[in-house]
Amino acid sequence: MALLNVLCYPDPRLHKVAKPVAQVDDRIKKIVADMADTMYEAPGVGLAATQVDIHERILVIDVSDEQNNLQVFINPEIIWASPEKKSWREGCLSVPEFYDEIERPAQVRVKALDVDGKEFEIDADGLLAVCLQHELDHLQGKVFVEYLSFLKRTRISQKLKKRAKELAGER
Ligand code: NI
Repeated sequence: MALLNVLCYPDPRLHKVAKPVAQVDDRIKKIVADMADTMYEAPGVGLAATQVDIHERILVIDVSDEQNNLQVFINPEIIWASPEKKSWREGCLSVPEFYDEIERPAQVRVKALDVDGKEFEIDADGLLAVCLQHELDHLQGKVFVEYLSFLKRTRISQKLKKRAKELAGER
């Protein structure tokens, strides 16, 4: 088991755009396993490679209550989104202790490769749809707080910078 360091907003590395995975090989499988360990340890329901400073299109998600249904998405793409929208209170491992309502399409269809490099499609609604869109944003270098007002975002940014300093033992 290997835990990866999760970048914290407003770290500029969270804004890097991830590149597609060229081949699902042992290196990618190791990244997936470490990302899953990191997500479960947090605990969180989803993690994008961008958040652990790996800029390749890889997501791990588990929205099950028992946290026993790992879903892996390599090179994911949204191929359809419902016109109907829904608002959820979102949080993020890169934005600790902040939650806010974000409106997104209620349903999405996503195409991706699994951990064996096999292509699949999934129709998602509810928390899985929210999570997929949130994590896909990460791969584009977008953090959910960027949907919020400039004022809110600035406040979150300042609080998290202060928190990071305190954690580092600075005064
Ligand atoms: Ni996030």
